[in-house]
Amino acid sequence: MEHRSSQWYGGDDRNAYIHRAWMRRGLPADAFDGRPHIAIANTASDLTPCNAHLTEVARSVKEGIWAAGGVPLELPVVSLGETNVRPTAMLWRNMAAMSTEEMLRANPIDGVVLLGGCDKTIPSLLMAAASVDLPALVIPGGPMLTGTFRGEALGCGTDVWRLSEEVRAGTLTNEQFHRSESSMIRSRGHCNTMGTASTMGLLAEALGTVLPGLAGTPAPDSRLLEMSHESGRLIVDLVERDLRPSRLLTKASFHNAIVTLAAIGGSTNAVVHLLAIAGRLGIDLTLADFDRIGSGVPLLVNLQPAGTFLMEDLFRAGGLQAVLREVQDLLDPTAITVSGRPLVDHLNEATVWDASVIAHREEPLQPDAGIAVLRGNLAPDGAIIKPAAASIHLLKHRGRAIVFDSIEDFRARIDDPDLDVDADSVLVLRGCGPRGYPGMPEVSNMPLPKKLLEQGVRDMVRICDGRMSGTAYGTVILHVAPEAAAGGPLARVRTGDWITLDVHRRRLDVDVPQDELDAREPNQATLDGFAKPRRGWERLYVDHVTQADTGADLDFLVGSSGDAVARESH
Ligand code: FES
Ligand code: MG
Repeated sequence: MEHRSSQWYGGDDRNAYIHRAWMRRGLPADAFDGRPHIAIANTASDLTPCNAHLTEVARSVKEGIWAAGGVPLELPVVSLGETNVRPTAMLWRNMAAMSTEEMLRANPIDGVVLLGGCDKTIPSLLMAAASVDLPALVIPGGPMLTGTFRGEALGCGTDVWRLSEEVRAGTLTNEQFHRSESSMIRSRGHCNTMGTASTMGLLAEALGTVLPGLAGTPAPDSRLLEMSHESGRLIVDLVERDLRPSRLLTKASFHNAIVTLAAIGGSTNAVVHLLAIAGRLGIDLTLADFDRIGSGVPLLVNLQPAGTFLMEDLFRAGGLQAVLREVQDLLDPTAITVSGRPLVDHLNEATVWDASVIAHREEPLQPDAGIAVLRGNLAPDGAIIKPAAASIHLLKHRGRAIVFDSIEDFRARIDDPDLDVDADSVLVLRGCGPRGYPGMPEVSNMPLPKKLLEQGVRDMVRICDGRMSGTAYGTVILHVAPEAAAGGPLARVRTGDWITLDVHRRRLDVDVPQDELDAREPNQATLDGFAKPRRGWERLYVDHVTQADTGADLDFLVGSSGDAVARESH
């Protein structure tokens, strides 16, 4: 098979000379004899500390590629550090995907190894690979080791809230609080709770894009390097087999990812990411598929934020494959992996070593862990809720809305002692969708009013067009579509309106006659809450971003352009 890179390096004309000569610095002459050239799309960055170790991972990948007769070429790509990047890393996911896609297409490469970890990096890499449609595999960089502080394990993110509460309560000094920072973030790797990074690493394997058994390997574990070497050899084989994302990833692959998402109790953010990846592949995946496929899937993994343990424990207890083996009958046996064999073929040896971390199918942590998709006059295109993370007594609820026009408005008023709020109120926050913020930040799990907290209230119904951190939970209705800034009815709800939630019937409605709701105009404060960028990426994003129910991609990035480039550079 003639490889794509031969279009650059093959032959004796002037252009082939230019392509070869400038690349020859250290590469042997036979590097250009037609063997596959493999990019290593690397999101390592000092400003994405969760991914900083991927440079070492890349070295192992390179050795594997050389060993299998390929030529490895490292390609630094846009990297998003969840804790650093403002206003929200999600604003830049599509930019990272677009720039990576274009650089993969523009360069003389035949396949790509995708190195990611921190929340948005694996989604953006998979979106890019799907749209350029070159043979690709993912190496999830893996979670941090468990850190302990004063004898107790610390979960990334989740325990920051707990410790800061302890400082406020006077049971922890400020000095101890500061000291806990390096205990929480003990090693290289991404967050060790079942947040978005852990979720997307595991889902990448469930989709079939990872060497089976690799996902969830802790970042400092020597087996990560061993399997990275093996992944390097595998990508060369993948190129020879011409196994491209368009052939590897099918609706069946997404079926398996949705089953996995429920069984691991993964982040709600995975819904938006999977929809966006499917959109690049032309796979007809909808919000309704999440409700249908996920319903009845048991929750098996006992990890923070909802549970007890951390990613290192999951790995020790048997890892993703042990989880998948428990729900094997729910998986689609036709979906294959980068190995060329069905996902389910790889599960025969998998064993649960610790049932307190990975529950057996017969004794699940919860019988039904799927995501519920709500519709109604408040969310005509859908909204989601994770019932397993909500309070049972609130799943059917009627209460009066208290509406906030922006996160700033919310922060300014929520602890006001005069705010007319009680435990039955429904907190509504708008202006936090893809267009409105912009970028759809993780602000939907609004903190409860202080005066209600003091009364012992621990959960309330909250509704928002934004997202929620994968490390958070509560009776929170997320991803309302269309968002307020896109003309959704959320923009026309008023404080005092009655809102009815019925998760069992999958309904979310405001009790206002439809013609009256339609006739209302959003007030000036609401409009002022929406982003109005003048130029640059934010402008492009706001003008073209799609709504959450279709993955919040840019409209002109949906689909694939393949790997062809029509013209020479000189
Ligand atoms: Fe990088 Fe959590 S901040 S994974
Ligand atoms: Mg997160």
